[in-house]
Amino acid sequence: MATTYDIIILNGIVVTDTEVAELDVAIKDEKIVKILKRGALGDVKATKTIDAEGGYVMPGGVDAHVHLDEPPLFGKGSTADNYESGSRSAICGGTTTMVTFAPQRKSEDTLLDTLRDTHAKAKDTCYADYSFHLLVGNPSANALSEFKTLREEGVSSLKIYMTYEALQLHDGQILDVLLEARRQNITTMVHAENGQVIDWMTAQLEKRNMFEPKYHGSSHPAMAETEATYRAISLSEFIDTPILIVHVSTPAATAHIKQAQDRGLPIYAETCPQYLFLTKNDLDKPGFEGAKCVCSPPPRESEADCDAIWDGLANGTFTILSSDHCPFRYNDNTTGKKTCITDEYPVGRFKYIPNGCPGIETRLSLALGEERLSLTKFVEVTSANPAKLYGLWPRKGGIIEGESDADINIWYPPGKMQQYQLKNEMLHHDVDYTPFEGRTVKQWPRWTLLRGKLVWDKENGGLIGEKGYGQFVKRGVSSLKGPRVKGEWQIPL
Ligand SMILES: *[C@@H]1O[C@H](CO)[C@@H](O)[C@H](O)[C@H]1NC(C)=O
Ligand SMILES: *[C@@H]1O[C@H](CO)[C@@H](O)[C@H](O)[C@H]1NC(C)=O
Ligand SMILES: *[C@@H]1O[C@H](CO)[C@@H](O)[C@H](O)[C@H]1NC(C)=O
Repeated sequence: MATTYDIIILNGIVVTDTEVAELDVAIKDEKIVKILKRGALGDVKATKTIDAEGGYVMPGGVDAHVHLDEPPLFGKGSTADNYESGSRSAICGGTTTMVTFAPQRKSEDTLLDTLRDTHAKAKDTCYADYSFHLLVGNPSANALSEFKTLREEGVSSLKIYMTYEALQLHDGQILDVLLEARRQNITTMVHAENGQVIDWMTAQLEKRNMFEPKYHGSSHPAMAETEATYRAISLSEFIDTPILIVHVSTPAATAHIKQAQDRGLPIYAETCPQYLFLTKNDLDKPGFEGAKCVCSPPPRESEADCDAIWDGLANGTFTILSSDHCPFRYNDNTTGKKTCITDEYPVGRFKYIPNGCPGIETRLSLALGEERLSLTKFVEVTSANPAKLYGLWPRKGGIIEGESDADINIWYPPGKMQQYQLKNEMLHHDVDYTPFEGRTVKQWPRWTLLRGKLVWDKENGGLIGEKGYGQFVKRGVSSLKGPRVKGEWQIPL
């Protein structure tokens, strides 16, 4: 008797982080159960057959840098997307798994309460699968003692900040976190910008009556990122434990990372579409418009900076490409970008503009459409590597028979999709703008599957996934290279 599958995908070009091949894929009970040469599945029964017509069949996107439903960090601004709207936007752009932040505040002593509260926010509301990074605002003795439990609960990564008054850790606290993270096989993500340099620059600019959005860029000089990146690498090397530098934007920071990697250190790096597509000019728009692109680090000087970041992606310096989806509404003076506009400051005050841009839905399409990365590299940095680094592999990020969840994007065959200009109204987040308005969309997922269920069908209704189908995914430890020396860290004497 012939096997019956739930879904078969025929005539596609399967692309993973290691191969591009004409393969047919069969799905049953949420998993990828069979992968065979095109045509070799033969005469099987399937509840649904998808003819990919020569389009790419890729693992669903894994976005490992997403802010949803977070408490205010910049004066009055608070995130526009909750778990429902954020995860909806994710799957409509082909991201089937997102790793969001569970933020502990400085005033709190425990991480486990933060984790519990964040679970409550996400439960039964997500369209995409999800997991959390714990954002450590206060590495107290109690918080450090909870790392072990966190990992046992499937949270194998943390994030710390070297800037922002509300979150900044000093170097001794960073060492505390790295040491305990090393003990527990936890990967630490670092926001590497020198907070004191930024505060000093902000004061200098304000003293000169420079308040407009464009000065946000000046207040975050490249040097502040380059210095902090090198410092983070040094602290990580001292403790011999892996870190990932998040949202790298400068060629000089990239060069430090590359040198550390060449020396065999477990230093990983992330960049984001903002640093591939936006520059300083996007901050310098008439009136307050530039606030739309205020994020940290800021978009840098010129196209040459963007080119260097593309090169770093292509040559493997960057491990992953994430969105850093950090949504604030533009035209909103109670929770959005315009909270910093007052009678006294009609063009706002850059230091109070909530930092962040939305982008969870556009990450994959913009990066693939540009055709600057090989197909396998694209899958590596947008799906496979985030899964490997954060302990989701091979369940997520791959197309592996018997192992991977059936999370799949089927793209248009090259040239088949009618190109169009991106408009915010096409997106599914709860934000009133996209920093990528007007860019040419050359590719978009035609179909997206999450655990064997069709959740996006671009030409037949678009979103067809359901709220609550997304599940929490318990993560294991990283499968990328860890400390160079095994065993307990020893004080160098
Ligand atoms: C951490 O990883 C190392 C090496 O992979 C392993 O030997 C050790 O048991 C792990 N420790 C914990 C606490 O999981
Ligand atoms: C990779 O790209 C980065 C960023 O442009 C650059 O610093 C580095 O030298 C490049 N490495 C190689 C081996 O080309
Ligand atoms: C906020 O925006 C609303 C609607 O545009 C406007 O009526 C109100 O005056 C604004 N409030 C402030 C404090 O600017």
